[in-house]
This record gives sequence, C-alpha cells and structure tokens, in this order.
Amino acid sequence: MKKAADVERGLRITIVCDNYTARDDMEAAWGFSCLIEYGDKTILFDTGSDGLVLSRNMARLGIDPADIDLLMISHQHWDHTGGIYTIVDANRTLEVLVPKSFSSRFIDDMKRYGISVEPADGPREIYPGFFTTGEMDGRTPEQTAIMKTDVGVVVITGCAHPGIVRIVETAGSIFPEEKIALVMGGFHILDKTDEEILEIIARFKSMGVRFAAPSHCSGERARKLFPREYGKRFIALGAGTVITKEKLK
Ligand SMILES: [Fe+2]
Ligand SMILES: [Fe+2]
Repeated sequence: MKKAADVERGLRITIVCDNYTARDDMEAAWGFSCLIEYGDKTILFDTGSDGLVLSRNMARLGIDPADIDLLMISHQHWDHTGGIYTIVDANRTLEVLVPKSFSSRFIDDMKRYGISVEPADGPREIYPGFFTTGEMDGRTPEQTAIMKTDVGVVVITGCAHPGIVRIVETAGSIFPEEKIALVMGGFHILDKTDEEILEIIARFKSMGVRFAAPSHCSGERARKLFPREYGKRFIALGAGTVITKEKLK
C-alpha cells in the first residue's frame, strides 16, 4: 500500500473574491478569498470583505460552503475576514485556523456559531503536504498557505504584510528540496516604486519562482510589470480564475 505522503495529490485553486474578476458573472470587491482543493481536503483561504459577494460568487462557481474542511484566515484585516460569518453560519463543523495574535474577542465571537478556532504559531503541516508558515511578524502578523505538488511548491498569500520576498524565502526553507511553482495572492506592493517592484521580480526569478500571480493589493504597476517580466508565466487572477497543477508545468 502506498503511504499517504507518496500519493500524488490533485490541486485546484478557485478565486472566489478579488479586486478583479475573470468572468462576467463574478462580482469584484476589495479583498481576497480562494478555495483550495488539495487531495481530498477543501480549504477556504480568506473570506474577502463582503459576505454577500462571497456567497453569490460561490453559488455561481458551484461551491457549497458545507464542503469546506478548513477555513484558513491569513490575517485580521476586514478585506480577508469580512465573509467569515457567511461561512461559519453555513458550515458549523469546519476548523478555523488563524494567526496566533488574532484578537481574543474575535475568537470568542466564533463560539456563537459553535466554532473553535485554532491559533497558528510556527510553521506546521496541517494536512500531508499542506502547510502554514505560522504567524510571521510584520506590520500586521500573517500566515501563508504553502503546499507541495509534483510540479513544485505553491504559495498563497493574503496581503503579504510580512514581505512577499520574505514569505517566499520561508516557503523555500520549509521545502528546501523543491522548486517553487507558483506564488499567488496579495503581494501588498501597491506603494512601491517601479524599481522596487522590478527588484522583487528579480528576487522571484533568483528564487526560481516559475509562475507569478499578483492580485488583490498588489497594485496596478505590479499587474503591468509582472507580465512584462514573467511573460506567459504571469497569471492574471480575478474572481472565477481556476488554477490546476497541470497549468503550472
Ligand atoms: Fe488585503
Ligand atoms: Fe491586509
């Protein structure tokens, strides 16, 4: 019998909420949320800013909140936590994982829905092959989702407040033997100059990041400079985008 760690896990990431849309039937709203189907687990990463937009987009994407095993919240900002009540109301058995410094008031409030919240401290394997960086310090403490696939490591950030390059370095230290297939999500480089963004892109390339998908709070210049430097390996995210590991080869 194959060990669980040897089983080739499927990966499908669907953007549910974003500042941008990739389909006409999706609604845009400032914030970020994506559904990660990894092996036999379904993880919702962040919940966007607006629970109504989240639930309408989910319905149009055919996503049932009852199927979610884990709700992972990257950091305590309104544009990532806004839809949380919509999800916990529809699924009272899911697990919720938040950075360890989340406010106790927020955690206590989840008890109204019968939900117990788990704090993420350091890097940890949550499911075989699926990791959190744990809480990384920054202007706002934040955790990042990292998963191993047979085409490389996938890194999903909320806002990347601890620094996008630092986060990718951390992902590399968790999987020192693996190549990084994709870094996606909010990079929070909207206030950087072109030179600073180009420096970040150069660091991405030197770290061997194969595909880059800056979205949400990455800023318009990042959405111009990344495609210029990454060419076909830039992925334009928006609500409705679906990424499978087959697209990351
Ligand atoms: Fe954000
Ligand atoms: Fe944020």
